[in-house]
Amino acid sequence: MNQTSRTVRIERNGGPEEMKLVDLPVGDPGPGEIRIRHHACGLNFIDVYQRSGVYTLPMPLTLGMEGAGLVEAVGEGVAHLKAGDRAAYASNPPGSYSTLRVMPARNVCKLPDAIDFDTGAAMMLKGLTAQYLLKRTRPQEGLEPGDFVLFHAAAGGVGLIACQWARALGLQLIGTAGSDAKCALAKENGAAFVVNYAREDFAARVKEITGGKGVKVVYDSVGKDTWDKSLDCLRPFGLMASFGNASGVVPPFAPGMLGAKGSLYVTRQTLFTHIATREATQAMADELFAVVASGQVKIRIDQRYALADVADAHRDLEARKTTGSSVLRP
Ligand SMILES: NC(=O)c1ccc[n+]([C@@H]2O[C@H](COP(=O)([O-])OP(=O)(O)OC[C@H]3O[C@@H](n4cnc5c(N)ncnc54)[C@H](OP(=O)(O)O)[C@@H]3O)[C@@H](O)[C@H]2O)c1
Repeated sequence: MNQTSRTVRIERNGGPEEMKLVDLPVGDPGPGEIRIRHHACGLNFIDVYQRSGVYTLPMPLTLGMEGAGLVEAVGEGVAHLKAGDRAAYASNPPGSYSTLRVMPARNVCKLPDAIDFDTGAAMMLKGLTAQYLLKRTRPQEGLEPGDFVLFHAAAGGVGLIACQWARALGLQLIGTAGSDAKCALAKENGAAFVVNYAREDFAARVKEITGGKGVKVVYDSVGKDTWDKSLDCLRPFGLMASFGNASGVVPPFAPGMLGAKGSLYVTRQTLFTHIATREATQAMADELFAVVASGQVKIRIDQRYALADVADAHRDLEARKTTGSSVLRP
């Protein structure tokens, strides 16, 4: 029998005002699927790209890639979850901005009892991203305790998790952020050094901090505005790990300049390649749950919104008013 879900949907790309709450029917899960009742939904910058059209998806489009709640029913072939389980996920296809949904089970993980729903919804997409960046997106020479890495937007959702995780790994993370208050927050959360890139030349500061050597990796989710200078922060054979475009998409570039700047490596990473299988998802989630359970990484939820106020949440995120994670309450 169909139930009804309050779901955020757009019919065309555009501003936050395009997001409308609609009632949609939700049926039973098919093979490999579950039905989950959300207690909290995560807010992510990717939701902005999908809403605005930076990433194009078929319309009408339900939004949201991260959530936590109670599993209500499981379809054929789903062995790792059962009705009544507490669970959380980062997953395609979008649709977590809702009270209830049927979705693929592959990326849904049982949530440890010690982690509440809000925290679960705030940490899966951002925490698994911090995990694959710091643990799997490494320069050819590897990363050792004491090494410098540069992480842009360090006071954001992914950023604050990365600051703490990098500290736990013994890395010296240089975090950039757009205000002194955000820089202070990144420092409190484990950044070894911070640079306010709204008023300081971050490439010059990185050179200063590293004694002229540069960093082994730049983790860059800001994109257009930071790309050029980020390359100047790398030491020879360093890795430019691009993983987002909050300021705009990086324009095409001539590979020859990578040679001129020190035989650099460039990669563009996405979480969804890393969590392509159930096994990989669970292994990464287990690592994330362990660093959260140990207290090495604390998930900061600095903003909470009712699902009905999702437009305000998007406006705040795009206006750089948020820090840490944000959750929507269905
Ligand atoms: N590829 C992947 O697998 C993957 C997965 C997750 C997230 N991401 C990317 O990682 C980034 C962080 O995601 P998040 O959800 O945690 O967001 P967030 O970091 O909480 O918010 C984005 C931050 O980017 C900075 N920023 C710089 N220029 C900006 C601009 N012109 N407009 C808006 N923000 C700007 C702002 O911090 P300051 O004010 O300090 O500059 C802002 O707070 C996003 O780019 C996202 O797309 C990628």
